[in-house]
Amino acid sequence: MTALSQTALLLELEPVVERNLDRHLAVAKEWFPHEYVPWSEGRTFDGPLGGEAWSEGDSTIPDVARTALIVNLLTEDNLPSYHHEIATLFGRDGAWGTWVHRWTAEEGRHGTAIRDYLTVTRAVDPVALERARMVHMSAGYANVHDDEVLHSLAYVSFQELATRISHRNTGRVTGDPACEALLARVAADENLHMVFYRNLLAAAFELAPSQAMRAVADVVADFQMPGNGIDGFARKSVAIALAGIYDLRQHRDEVVAPVLRQWDVFNVTGLDADGEAAREAIAAHLDELDRAASRFEEKRAARAARLASR
Ligand SMILES: [Fe+2]
Ligand SMILES: [Fe+2]
Repeated sequence: MTALSQTALLLELEPVVERNLDRHLAVAKEWFPHEYVPWSEGRTFDGPLGGEAWSEGDSTIPDVARTALIVNLLTEDNLPSYHHEIATLFGRDGAWGTWVHRWTAEEGRHGTAIRDYLTVTRAVDPVALERARMVHMSAGYANVHDDEVLHSLAYVSFQELATRISHRNTGRVTGDPACEALLARVAADENLHMVFYRNLLAAAFELAPSQAMRAVADVVADFQMPGNGIDGFARKSVAIALAGIYDLRQHRDEVVAPVLRQWDVFNVTGLDADGEAAREAIAAHLDELDRAASRFEEKRAARAARLASR
């Protein structure tokens, strides 16, 4: 069987986009960012209005929660780049275009809501946050597989779920019920986004199983969180992993494995030689992730024991 071109894949998947768009619109609940922000806690800042400058003690939320909130918000902030990526690849017409715009509008809520919350509650330094946003957005974002439909669908299937887990667990560590409720609401959106993309790739597995398998294998092999270009990301992601907000075990067991299970990758039939090789690579990668996750968990436990004995 000859491989389907990118254009053929888009055309063949368009009816699936249409069905899943209808499904998404039927289940997505309208919500309002302003309802999740405790406005009465806010105070005017220094600057033109002559209020009080931010200081570390303005908020009691833990350091690691601040770090995770900043990473999550900067990730959401780069929406123009993500929109550019998917609008360029999926197009702005027909059902694909309707999805691209709807998705962008929903994602736009996330950054708005989180920024309003952080500013009003003085949870993070607003000057540092704004400077970090400028640096991050000025660099832009490009998906490494941005000219391949199936690779991009595979990537966003994992990425939306990863983002969901990261938001939800960030909410948990803030110790603030309002923040937790906000991030749970955002996480629910990310879950619906994941389902949309995952369903599309499931259809691709029926249409072009070997191409789909190759896409998944390539994407799991070099998966990076969308915020990986954030200044100091490596250091921040270690703190986030140590706190159990997003670590390798969660990445493997709560993101990669469940999505692979939904696609039933280990029972897909009709693969050519490259499709089989791709599936073997996926299995090997899952094993490697398992080992790496266990190593990290051991180190984290040893570190916790060391800290406790001090
Ligand atoms: Fe989002
Ligand atoms: Fe999303």
